[in-house]
Amino acid sequence: MSESVENRQIYQVDLGARSYDIHIEAGCLNHIGGALNKLFNSSTRCMVVSNVTVAPLYLARVRKSLEEAGWQVSECILPDGERYKTIDSFNTIMDALMQARLSRNEPVIALGGGVVGDMTGFSASCYRRGIPFIQIPTTVLAQVDSSVGGKTAINHPHGKNMIGAFYQPKLVWIDPDVLQTLAQREIKAGIAEAIKYGLIRDASFFDWMHSNIAAALKLEPAVISTMIHACCQHKAEVVMQDETEQGVRALLNLGHTFGHAIESMTRYTTYLHGEAVALGTLLAVRLSEQCGYAPAGTEKKVAACYKQLGLPLHIPDFDASQWLDAMGHDKKNIGSQIRYILLHKIGDGFVAGSIEPHAIHALIDSYHAG
Ligand code: NAD
Ligand code: GLY
Repeated sequence: MSESVENRQIYQVDLGARSYDIHIEAGCLNHIGGALNKLFNSSTRCMVVSNVTVAPLYLARVRKSLEEAGWQVSECILPDGERYKTIDSFNTIMDALMQARLSRNEPVIALGGGVVGDMTGFSASCYRRGIPFIQIPTTVLAQVDSSVGGKTAINHPHGKNMIGAFYQPKLVWIDPDVLQTLAQREIKAGIAEAIKYGLIRDASFFDWMHSNIAAALKLEPAVISTMIHACCQHKAEVVMQDETEQGVRALLNLGHTFGHAIESMTRYTTYLHGEAVALGTLLAVRLSEQCGYAPAGTEKKVAACYKQLGLPLHIPDFDASQWLDAMGHDKKNIGSQIRYILLHKIGDGFVAGSIEPHAIHALIDSYHAG
């Protein structure tokens, strides 16, 4: 599945006609032009979508590499933030694509974190009924999770990621060096997403992450590179088994049922997505223990890891009925049934069949009881 050449690593996401490579290499941002030439032998135009934070840092390097490789590059620079993951930004991308007259086989490139990646991918899936798109993820979260697997979306006032499509990129081009400019809080939230793979499917990776958190926080190259490789391999394996989330892919949503409720109850103002999901994971792990699925002490072990990472650990103070109401709106629910991802133990996640509301009352009460 993977080819390793010194520091360079290529994984193939094998999805038949929708297969693509994940290329991980420090410094590879400077070589994106050559990579595109290998993928598209007759195209000449492409568009880079980025935002006002990332573009000043990295767009010139991407543009230089593309132009040196013979590409005519246009750009679309969006405002920065989850609150701009909207139909208005989608329209801005559409306008730019029309103005640049990109034809059906000419690629659009997402240069940024998960917000830019999700919006660009969704726009690529719609423009001319689908043009190729390339992911150049620039946050930890995007490099370990969101750039791989083809989930693309924009938000709607009624819910996060409510309008979207499964639409796979043609290439994921990961340069860990770009993480050097990322804010510490974003790095922490991204590392929390990496820990998720350990919790749902690889206990030894969880232990490895726990022992290497200090080095990961300092972005030590060897640790960051091992972390990204492991996560991309996990993500690729899951997506190859279940591209459209009919089964095992749902495990990647560990912490999301509670996490999305936290984000909506706090009106998206208090926590980063990764922070809310980490808090949601703590709730899911406690619920796993309280329902008798996971051994006592599991929550303590996860909380110790998050504490070392420096994540917020305080569960926001809402009543069980508010939690249930907020979780009732999760788009992953089936009918009126709220879906929870729980653990049998660290390294072994599962989708819980049915959790009765009284179990959620008991869970929330256990926090109120201190
Ligand atoms: P983000 O895209 O908002 O990026 C976080 C911040 O870092 C932004 O301010 C951004 O401008 C800045 N930034 C990005 N790269 C930088 C760099 N190299 N240097 C300095 N600043 C940089 O947030 P995110 O955490 O990357 O992504 C969150 C989004 O991803 C959410 O919308 C979530 O729904 C989505 N997501 C999607 C999937 C998926 O499978 N598609 C999975 C998880 C999350
Ligand atoms: N990040 C969840 C998924 O890709 O399925």
